[in-house]
Amino acid sequence: MKKILGLTLVALLLFTVVAGVASAAAPLPQGGGQEYTVQADDWLSKLAEKNYGDVLAWPVIWKATNAKATEDDSFAAIANPNVIEVGQKLWIPDESEAAQYFEEFSAERAAATTTGSPDITGELNLLCVVELEWCEGQIPEFNKLYPGIQINWIRMSSGESLTRLRNEASNPQFDVWWGGPIDSYITAAKEGLLEPYDSPNAVNLRDPQLMKAPDNSWFGIYIGTLGFATNLDYLEAHPGLVAPTSWDELIKPEWKDQVLIAHPSSSGTSYTALCTILQLRGEEAGWEYMRAFADNVLQFTKSGSAPARFAGSGEAGTSVVFSHDIVKQIEAGLPLQLTFPAEGTGYEIGGTALIKGAKNPDLAKLWIDWALTPAAQELGPKYNAFQAPTVIGAEASRPELLEVNLINYDFDYCGNNKSAFVDRFTNEIANADALKE
Ligand code: F6P
Repeated sequence: MKKILGLTLVALLLFTVVAGVASAAAPLPQGGGQEYTVQADDWLSKLAEKNYGDVLAWPVIWKATNAKATEDDSFAAIANPNVIEVGQKLWIPDESEAAQYFEEFSAERAAATTTGSPDITGELNLLCVVELEWCEGQIPEFNKLYPGIQINWIRMSSGESLTRLRNEASNPQFDVWWGGPIDSYITAAKEGLLEPYDSPNAVNLRDPQLMKAPDNSWFGIYIGTLGFATNLDYLEAHPGLVAPTSWDELIKPEWKDQVLIAHPSSSGTSYTALCTILQLRGEEAGWEYMRAFADNVLQFTKSGSAPARFAGSGEAGTSVVFSHDIVKQIEAGLPLQLTFPAEGTGYEIGGTALIKGAKNPDLAKLWIDWALTPAAQELGPKYNAFQAPTVIGAEASRPELLEVNLINYDFDYCGNNKSAFVDRFTNEIANADALKE
């Protein structure tokens, strides 16, 4: 099972600026390096943090161990840095050796950019799950690199896009899936809807353990945290009421019929919220909470970001939405206050993947390679998309959105149980018959 990083580590990997391995807080091993035997719950980034004080230094151990394996049979080469076995021997290089490997890795990463080509032609069918504005903007940006590729695309919410992929499994109409929380990608991979692709640019990922599938069937391209968007005029009209700062407040009588959220069957945002509650409270208490929460919901929407817009225009008092989508509406001038639940909030890793049976797999691979470059990920804010990037070399435009109390969101748990949890929500809590568009 994929291991989940702790909160401190998430914060670290999001904010560490790589100036080289020697920027680390912990002392580097001295005197020629040392052997290390993998223990349960070890992974390369964790060992990199322990030995070098920097999670981003994991490639050093990977590369050093592989080099050792060429000269010493007691070491096994690590083919996939996501997979290390308990009992396996690793080589933890000393300072000068580590610096050398890091330099080598940095050069590879620098080469892992996409320069494009005017000679490649064809059609690429893109299933886009980010906001419409980013979908629309990203296509001409890709065409600057590949002017000969015509992109046909549709924007859908995560759950809808997963349903579409399921329905078209025997005759896929899309080549590449871009955006939406990886919970759906984990579900899709389990159902055999995705085609593993070993993108050379996966080397750019800040933490491959967390940000790509072990079999390369999906890759993480952004990170976003869940927040609450509350209408300031509503607060002013209700003296004594303040913007919620806990999940508990959302089920209080003062918010009766004043909460907006999408439906988890259509929306990845809403599914992230559902799975956050089930993890925070445990399943039994979590479902109880969801029942009370749904009682306060005015209406469920189809798209995850829409509740911020509707709350901002006064249709309800508050809403549960990804914080970057709330920031977008605040920037657009809507009277909203962004708050976070103090007891912890869930977060998404947005994904991208090659669709199994894609008619244009080579073009889809070009899109994925590009999506894993700092240049592509830094385009988000230009199109009012303020998610944090996943690749080294791209900086978060709104780092404060990640500096909140995050739960240790278990993507495997949420991805593997998505169908069951969505069905239960739809059957027992609220159906998806009349979703607000
Ligand atoms: O693009 C905005 C966004 O919030 C993404 O960060 C997220 O992955 C996606 O929308 C989810 O959309 P929905 O909730 O409609 O499935």
